[in-house]
Amino acid sequence: MAAQPANLPFAYLNGLYLPLDEARISPLDRGFLFGDGVYEVIPCYAGTLFRLEPHLARMQRSLDAIGIAAPHTLAEWTDVLNGLVAHNGGGHQSLYLQITRGAPNLRDHRFPAECPPTIFAYCTTLEDPDTRSLDDETGLRCITCDDIRWSRCDIKAVTLLANVLLREQARAAGCDEAILIRSGWVTEGSTSNVFVVSEGEILTPCAGPDVLGGITRDLVIELAGRHGLSLLESFVDPRLLQSADEVWISSSTRGVRPVVALDGKPVGDGRPGPLWRKMAECYAEFRRALMA
Ligand code: PDD
Repeated sequence: MAAQPANLPFAYLNGLYLPLDEARISPLDRGFLFGDGVYEVIPCYAGTLFRLEPHLARMQRSLDAIGIAAPHTLAEWTDVLNGLVAHNGGGHQSLYLQITRGAPNLRDHRFPAECPPTIFAYCTTLEDPDTRSLDDETGLRCITCDDIRWSRCDIKAVTLLANVLLREQARAAGCDEAILIRSGWVTEGSTSNVFVVSEGEILTPCAGPDVLGGITRDLVIELAGRHGLSLLESFVDPRLLQSADEVWISSSTRGVRPVVALDGKPVGDGRPGPLWRKMAECYAEFRRALMA
């Protein structure tokens, strides 16, 4: 069993590093009242934030999409987040960053005229990814569910009620993740992107309004290209999930994980597949090279 993540002592709130248990925000914050904000989850290995630039670029796209003016430049964000990692002693961490439309005096759906955004970040421990051998991977169990989310899943919004309900549905079924189907096509997981291996080809749904452009997903696509694996971004028919040789999910916190059971039936032979193993090796090698 993987160790449960624990909160690290320091947080960042609106320009200050402070103990997490001293961080306070107003109940009038629009993140609390409306879910009016965006977020990122960025893994950090051996003190280095992994794929920081693409995470910050996606955060900027999310901010632009919801009309929050950029509170920091790329260089400033880099300093702020590296500073938080350093306050927490480096090593392996998962950094959560949230920016909301701030805390005006009145609850009003309309954007406030002038209100500074609330910027909050904190970290949790992250298991050393090299302590577990790929041989020990037993794989995940998933269910399929109707994708009940909104139509701007490309925005990494904190408004996650639908994702929460779907993830809970998976948990209640004794499973690790819900794989979502919308208008007859696979979209993504409730907290992850999805890959399907069929006849030696890796398929993943196209990023867009229905599918978050995952940073891990993009890296998997990049690594497939570098290592000569055939990968296609395309519509994925849910029937393919049932007949697939392999199914994987990806996210910043989980990396690339094999799915061994779907809706109570085995995926392929019910064990992590050879292409997953190849991709997991490529991923680990890429990560280690950055940490070296
Ligand atoms: N979520 N799709 C959804 C709906 C997600 O919530 C996530 C990750 C991903 C994968 O994106 P990335 O590879 O950039 O982590 C795809 C994070 C980890 C979370 O909400 O905690």
